[in-house]
Amino acid sequence: MTALLDARGRPLRDLRISLTDRCNFRCVYCMPREMFGPDHAFLPTEHLLSFDEIERVTRAAMRLGVRKVRLTGGEPLLRDGVDALISSLKSLDGLEVAMTTNGALLGTHADGLARAGLDRVTVSLDSTDPETFRRMSDTRVPVKRVLDGIESATTAGLGPVKVNVVVRRGVNDASVLDLARTFRDSPVTVRFIEYMDVGSTNRWQLDQVIGAAEIASTIDAVYPLEPLPPRYDGEVARRYRYRDGGGEIGIIASVTRPFCGDCTRARLSADGQIYTCLFAGSGTDLRGLMRSGADDATVEDTLRRLWSVRVDRYSELRSRSDGPSRGEKVEMSYIGG
Ligand code: GTP
Ligand code: 5AD
Ligand code: SF4
Ligand code: SF4
Repeated sequence: MTALLDARGRPLRDLRISLTDRCNFRCVYCMPREMFGPDHAFLPTEHLLSFDEIERVTRAAMRLGVRKVRLTGGEPLLRDGVDALISSLKSLDGLEVAMTTNGALLGTHADGLARAGLDRVTVSLDSTDPETFRRMSDTRVPVKRVLDGIESATTAGLGPVKVNVVVRRGVNDASVLDLARTFRDSPVTVRFIEYMDVGSTNRWQLDQVIGAAEIASTIDAVYPLEPLPPRYDGEVARRYRYRDGGGEIGIIASVTRPFCGDCTRARLSADGQIYTCLFAGSGTDLRGLMRSGADDATVEDTLRRLWSVRVDRYSELRSRSDGPSRGEKVEMSYIGG
């Protein structure tokens, strides 16, 4: 079978699956409390894809080239029965299953996740300073609980654990060095992410972005770095290692050095919409299709048609004057980042 390519020659390799649009944090850049308060209407349970439906979509996507799924949210550990889903996904031949979580519930879940067969976790953590952490995540969960969660995940064998840090100028600038220091000489890889204009609620501005070059030079000035080659084609993070052997870090430069040219990711929202770009305005409804009785071949065919006409490259176009308009974009908490 010839590989399925999109209209820009990119294969489909990764499927990011959001399990819920709910979260126990209210990160100000993702789910600001003014927009996601007590009255916010989250998806009702019957609108969420069932685990069987998720597995059907995954199997269809695997027939088209997918080899890795990443479970996301909202917060994926808020979805009941996630271990059972992981076990059934891991029974699919050759599928890597990873998860991105905020870590608050990892202490209680890590062993179960590992037993279910989860390959790896990535934990979102923007600061080790309790006050900065609280200000960015707007949660009562203490940062210590997330740090303990990272440790539990490492002990359970869900590693090497990665830590994702969203860097915002004027908010957690100092956390860049703090986090680098905390996880140097440990099995954890910290990845610094340029703050992106995802969604329509975070009022993003370019001057809030600290670019990859500045992040790298801040760390390099204290702990000298050297670049490492990518581990696989299309790897999102650029890798660096500490020259003194203290391990490695990553920088995800989706604003200053976009990586759309290698983007092999499709995204499945918690209610079964497929999005071919993180910045898409709308998706394609696979839940309705499956619930109206479509067979597996039809699901596969729908995905194939969607991918084969895909031209998305939002991050590459963002900075051009003739670039994409700032229309309504899907929220990160809904599509999973
Ligand atoms: P591994 O290398 O397997 O750990 O996966 P990954 O690099 O895809 O990790 P992860 O899912 O943690 O992605 C890290 C972050 O990079 C995400 O949280 C996003 O902020 C950003 N990112 C990932 N994929 C994309 C993408 O397709 N487009 C853009 N613009 N940003 C992305
Ligand atoms: N820019 C960059 N990264 C973001 N994330 C959430 N919102 C943004 C944003 N605006 C990150 C989270 C998490 C991942 C899913 O995406 O911190 O690590
Ligand atoms: Fe929740 Fe992650 Fe969004 Fe923060 S960034 S509100 S932890 S989904
Ligand atoms: Fe892929 Fe869209 Fe991100 Fe570009 S902006 S890397 S096409 S998800």
